Amino acid sequence: MDIFEAIKSRRSMGLVSDEPVSKEFIDQILEAGTWAPSHYRTEPWKFFVLTGDSRHRLGETLAQIEAQKMEDPSSESNQKKLMKIQEKPFRAPLIIAVAVEPSDNPRALIQEEHGAVYAAIQNMLLTAHALGLGGYWRTGKPAYDPAMKKLFKLSDRGEILGFLYFGHPKRAVPEGKRKPVEEVTSWLASESDFDLL
Ligand SMILES: Cc1cc2nc3c(=O)[nH]c(=O)nc-3n(C[C@H](O)[C@H](O)[C@H](O)COP(=O)(O)O)c2cc1C
Repeated sequence: MDIFEAIKSRRSMGLVSDEPVSKEFIDQILEAGTWAPSHYRTEPWKFFVLTGDSRHRLGETLAQIEAQKMEDPSSESNQKKLMKIQEKPFRAPLIIAVAVEPSDNPRALIQEEHGAVYAAIQNMLLTAHALGLGGYWRTGKPAYDPAMKKLFKLSDRGEILGFLYFGHPKRAVPEGKRKPVEEVTSWLASESDFDLL
């Protein structure tokens, strides 16, 4: 698939089947992640490949984080809500949790370490798309909760930056929509053009 075509046609696709994703595909997705750029070549990404029952632990942690916010987690309605949350990781046969572990290199800036991992995630989503898989980047506040760091044994500065849900799509992805380039771009050809910003 042509790179521009892949970039444009990739969509978040959550409707996937239970059919396992092959090891060969997973390896390709992971390797694509590692080819992202990183300042000072810190390669600050960490990948956690979740399949099978390991998704239970993720579900339990998501529910535990949600329960902390509830006044009465044991109420019937909250129990129902928590059960639903616990099942969330089973929406796809494969989840790759992607974390940043920032380098100790004093020159490495935290924003750039995160940026490198975000670039890795996009590489992974595009590769999965090129392989015909559906992919979905999921986060939300629980991703950044201390309980999540603990589950994946991350350092104090480590952070989960994405749960990438992958599977074989059940239907074709819809067309996407973006703001026109003109709306988000300023062309600066001379010093005085800055005055127009
Ligand atoms: C950092 C980040 C976190 C995201 N987290 C979620 C999420 O928690 N839930 C969700 O439905 N989509 C999430 N998304 C996916 C966006 O909703 C999706 O990319 C956007 O709607 C554009 O759709 P597209 O991916 O099909 O182009 C996230 C995207 C990014 C970049």
